[in-house]
Amino acid sequence: MSSIFSSVPTAPPDAILGLTAQFRADPDPRKVNLGVGAFRTSSNKPYVLPVVRRVEQQLADDPSATHEYLPQDGLQSFCDASARLILGADSPALADGRVTTVQALSGTGALRVGFAFVANFISSSTSVYVPKQTWSNHRNVIPAAGLPRALEYRYLDPRTGAVDIAALVEDLDKAPAGSIILLHGCAHNPTGADPTQPQWLQILDVVKRRKLVPFFDNAYQGFASGSLETDAWSVRTFVAAGLDMLVAQSYAKNMGMYGERVGALSVVASSAGAEDAVRSQLKATIRAMYSSPPKHGAMVAAAILGDEKLFAEWEGELVKMSARIMDMRVKLKAALEKNATPGNWDRITSQIGMFSYTGLTSQQVTFMREKYHVYMTANGRISMAGLTDDTVQYVADAMKDAVESVVKQD
Ligand code: LMR
Repeated sequence: MSSIFSSVPTAPPDAILGLTAQFRADPDPRKVNLGVGAFRTSSNKPYVLPVVRRVEQQLADDPSATHEYLPQDGLQSFCDASARLILGADSPALADGRVTTVQALSGTGALRVGFAFVANFISSSTSVYVPKQTWSNHRNVIPAAGLPRALEYRYLDPRTGAVDIAALVEDLDKAPAGSIILLHGCAHNPTGADPTQPQWLQILDVVKRRKLVPFFDNAYQGFASGSLETDAWSVRTFVAAGLDMLVAQSYAKNMGMYGERVGALSVVASSAGAEDAVRSQLKATIRAMYSSPPKHGAMVAAAILGDEKLFAEWEGELVKMSARIMDMRVKLKAALEKNATPGNWDRITSQIGMFSYTGLTSQQVTFMREKYHVYMTANGRISMAGLTDDTVQYVADAMKDAVESVVKQD
């Protein structure tokens, strides 16, 4: 008798996490992982921020610390501090009490809860628009939360490697009122191309005119410019316009707590009054999904966010981490140019955040993986933090070979 499970079809590997598994299984000593967006030190090691380590030690030594459940909406001090971090301590929305913040399983969990909330309490037929180039998992999370498959708005001008603002605005102008518009708050993943401040104002203008609902995904606050304040400019500007919107936050990259799943979701309402109902439904949504969030990472983040000295130390770490990425950008571009690699590589240094969108085609990406054991996502995105002084020339040589040997087909 065959099992009821025997007809389960195998899912395709995840576009990003599948690469990590493939990389781990590759025995070649030359292999380089530029796939997943995770910070590495200059000797290619995972980095535990010393400030995080110290707080963890203090928590471990605290005899009063327990492993009791958190409530469904998480650790209150963490949620309050997270809202202040992204919205600004002087946010008018916070002053008016229009913000409901709950703890979430990092950025993905915040998106998942937020979209489920929209599906259940706004409408399950709400259209969601994502940038044409976006984090691959956005396209999984939206239908999994009970909404229709994501629609696209044009984002990148492939010729310049910058945002195609005219096309973007033209597409948003056609979105029906009430549509959710997913926006990357900073350090756009995968392109590394963010709108300029005047371009953000153009986006805000069409969002207001068309009565659209922004959902900001903030996975990289502090990682784009090195400044937490600068990287929150887009979100704060939209909040100041008094819109209904949602905001997802992650501490995976900026506190290096990838596996601890530390994040938050804020529902920002254009007028006060719905907070208790919104919180009650977010709690009910979370209870049915995973009951309540994990405690450890939120305790660590809350301690750092709530202490001036620890916070300042964390800010120093962000400057150092983003500087290392910028250093790798400069070195990769220099190596590509020294090699006389065909093409213009200015975008390597003009793009910001964790990634560079190289313009390599999926065939060139496959070539680099098969011949050189250099791993990157099929869209040609490389995680700059995966490069080191020891590997940058090797990767540049592989890129030159790929560009020269593999005819562009994408
Ligand atoms: C990435 O884009 O590589 C990261 O956000 C990790 C992930 O979960 O995909």
